[in-house]
Amino acid sequence: MNGQRARWTSRSSFIIASIGAAIGLGNVWRFPYICYENGGGAFLIPYFVALFTAGIPLMILEYGLGRKMQAGAPTAFAKVRKGTEWVGWLALMVVMLIFLYYPVIMAWCVDYITYAFNLGWGTDTAGFFERDFLQLSGGPGMLGGIRWPIVIGLAVVWFAVYLCLFKGLKALSKIVFYTVIIPWIILVIMVIRGLTLPGAIEGLKFYLTPNFSVLGDPRVWLAAYGQIFFSLSLAMGTMIVYSSYLPRKSDIANNAFIVSLANCGTSFFAGFAVFSILGYLAQAMGVSVPEVTQSGLGLAFITYPTAIRLLPLVPAFFGILFFLLLLTLGIDSAFSQIEPFVAGFTDKWKLNKKWVLPIVCICGFLIGIVFTTRGGYYWLDIVDYFANTFGLTLVGLLECIVIGYVYKASKMREYVNEVSEFRIGIWWDICIKIVTPVILGISFILSVVTLIKEGYGGYPTWATIVGVVIAIGIVILSFVLMSIRGKTVTTGVSKGD
Ligand code: PFF
Repeated sequence: MNGQRARWTSRSSFIIASIGAAIGLGNVWRFPYICYENGGGAFLIPYFVALFTAGIPLMILEYGLGRKMQAGAPTAFAKVRKGTEWVGWLALMVVMLIFLYYPVIMAWCVDYITYAFNLGWGTDTAGFFERDFLQLSGGPGMLGGIRWPIVIGLAVVWFAVYLCLFKGLKALSKIVFYTVIIPWIILVIMVIRGLTLPGAIEGLKFYLTPNFSVLGDPRVWLAAYGQIFFSLSLAMGTMIVYSSYLPRKSDIANNAFIVSLANCGTSFFAGFAVFSILGYLAQAMGVSVPEVTQSGLGLAFITYPTAIRLLPLVPAFFGILFFLLLLTLGIDSAFSQIEPFVAGFTDKWKLNKKWVLPIVCICGFLIGIVFTTRGGYYWLDIVDYFANTFGLTLVGLLECIVIGYVYKASKMREYVNEVSEFRIGIWWDICIKIVTPVILGISFILSVVTLIKEGYGGYPTWATIVGVVIAIGIVILSFVLMSIRGKTVTTGVSKGD
């Protein structure tokens, strides 16, 4: 790997790895509830508009940037213009926040797989999750000691992430096939199981019946854009570094369409698995579908276990399968968060990945222990909110400005068209220079106003202030990292293969 940049072994490895990065926990628990909270079937309209006006254009931008500059986010931005390197670092700081807590949710899945063998969550699944499993403290001010089962799960997840990455891209090119195909097979089984249950149709009606009146509400549109960004893993440096491992003359535009559509199709499909089971649960409990539907993590760790318990045949098997689904969905997203971070350092200072990777994994694990405490859940929620609401939007906005105006959208478009299987038109420039930044800008301002007016999640003000301090801290850190002199950045562009 020294000197020559590492390469995917084939185009399909790259596509599959990108799909694996995009498809994650978010497709199963986030998309379905955001969809029904924002107009059900009608949400698909803003969702697909967001996909085509922001998701795909930004994916093309990130692929183009990584492919052209042959480097991870900070060095790629430095090559655009020296002073913009911090934008790349900011992306990595945001992804760092995410990779501190994302594996903790996966650790819960590891633990829940062990409980699934005898349906250990019992009948009171909410009580089990909050009282017995997380042993929630009174609030973010009380960390209240570590929950060892979660720490053990976390160690398992980090070790798995390390194992996937340490052998480099050749091994990763193979691993991603399994980490994408296995969850897909499980998902298909879960959908078939769900659809053959009584009451499933009611659940699907609830999922898909359009309520067009919501389309006038700007919050619905913002939710759609937010979901597209999170789901496609944009603005985190992931897609930039993945495309920097592409050999010369690799297509960009078509790959971006394939990855984006595969991801969004999977989200839509996962909704069938979730809502068919919710329909069944509602029928079994003799209540309406909205009454059993929880948003957020409650859907996966409270509602779904309740439904699994009520399944007529081999419920333990489906319990194991469901949490295995989440785990396998999450693993390739997790390592796609580590790779850009590690590459940021190895590209700039020519450090040896053999050392940087284990150090990052060990530090990630140790810092992640904060989220395994009894008060850790609250912090997970706060960090998730700040990273996704502010971090992603800000980085996306900056990316559009730097490429749209500093580098020039038309120049990037020409480059993309030179190597792609089909040409992208002027519409792309309009999206990158106007549509996406305007929407992200509005979204950012609205979020700041809401935060100032209402705080977040009913937490005490000081907890929100900690969030703001972390947010400002990572911006400062990005500038500091930019200002530390790197080893010359002109190498790293290989002759291709
Ligand atoms: N896109 C992933 C999901 O939908 O679950 C989440 C994610 C992956 C976030 C990769 C961040 C990231 F770098």
